[in-house]
Amino acid sequence: MTIRIDLGDRSYDVIVEKGCMEKASELLNLNRKVLIVTDDGVPSDYSESLAEQCKDAVLVKLPQGESSKNIINYELLQNRMLDEGFTRADCVVAVGGGMVGDISGFAASTYMRGIDFYNIPTTLLSQADSSIGGKTAINLGGAKNIVGTFWQPKAVLIDSATLQTLPDDQIASGMAEIIKSGLISDAELFEMIENQADTNLEDLLIRSLLVKKHVVEEDEREGGLRRILNFGHTIGHGIESVTGILHGHAVALGMTLMCSDEVRERLLGVMDSCRLPLSIDCDKDAVYKAVLSDKKMKDGKIGAVRVEEPGTCEIVDYTPDELRKRIERL
Ligand code: GLY
Repeated sequence: MTIRIDLGDRSYDVIVEKGCMEKASELLNLNRKVLIVTDDGVPSDYSESLAEQCKDAVLVKLPQGESSKNIINYELLQNRMLDEGFTRADCVVAVGGGMVGDISGFAASTYMRGIDFYNIPTTLLSQADSSIGGKTAINLGGAKNIVGTFWQPKAVLIDSATLQTLPDDQIASGMAEIIKSGLISDAELFEMIENQADTNLEDLLIRSLLVKKHVVEEDEREGGLRRILNFGHTIGHGIESVTGILHGHAVALGMTLMCSDEVRERLLGVMDSCRLPLSIDCDKDAVYKAVLSDKKMKDGKIGAVRVEEPGTCEIVDYTPDELRKRIERL
């Protein structure tokens, strides 16, 4: 299946197909210098098989983990392209999860003021969320995603074969973003997960991608609507930074605090069936502090997404005290 992200001259295809990585050279223009960026947690055969399909591949393997999304590795990627004589006609391909996609996209968007970027996300989390929509970033001085650009990829290849080797907790983490899509915009998707309908992961992923497609097409640069994709993330980011649990696990817990009691009950059932945590023992003061430092306040309030019933949402302004009370419910 091909999903077209319609953004005028920045439009691109998201190809969701089992085995598409093996025929990347038919789908992407690899007949040039290609910087392949991956990490040491991603099976090496993915990047090696891609390198074999390139005319002139340069492979960089970063250490796995969010801490690699830093300015040192960004400089390393730039230096590598410079040393290898990359021009504006060459390209960068990310093969991995969100960390790899974010830093590679940022490197591509700034090298010689921007060169082509392709994303091949290999985790369910990055397939469902960060690989689509053109957000690129690195972290700086403890601030997550603080330096970055909007730079749309030229194409995204989602090979569902990569999910077969993905650990269960990584699948659960990605499911949280799919559940999020259902709750904010597609009640039927939420019900499909809830009822464990006769459907496979790829179908759920595609439905979730269609939600993201719609949102990004309406609001590419997060002037308004795109903020709904942050459902669960306001408190979720705080939980993630304090406890170090996986992103999707933290977002799922964050979502439980930002919905009506009825939705919360149904969501907890869905999270249980997806093997996401239903609660966490953590330092709530630290989570509160992390939430306040992460989010900009406007007139003493923080805007966060709230879901009263599956499939619709709104942005509500909360005082710090109201958020504090919600964190207490963790
Ligand atoms: N991950 C949220 C967004 O792409 O806007």
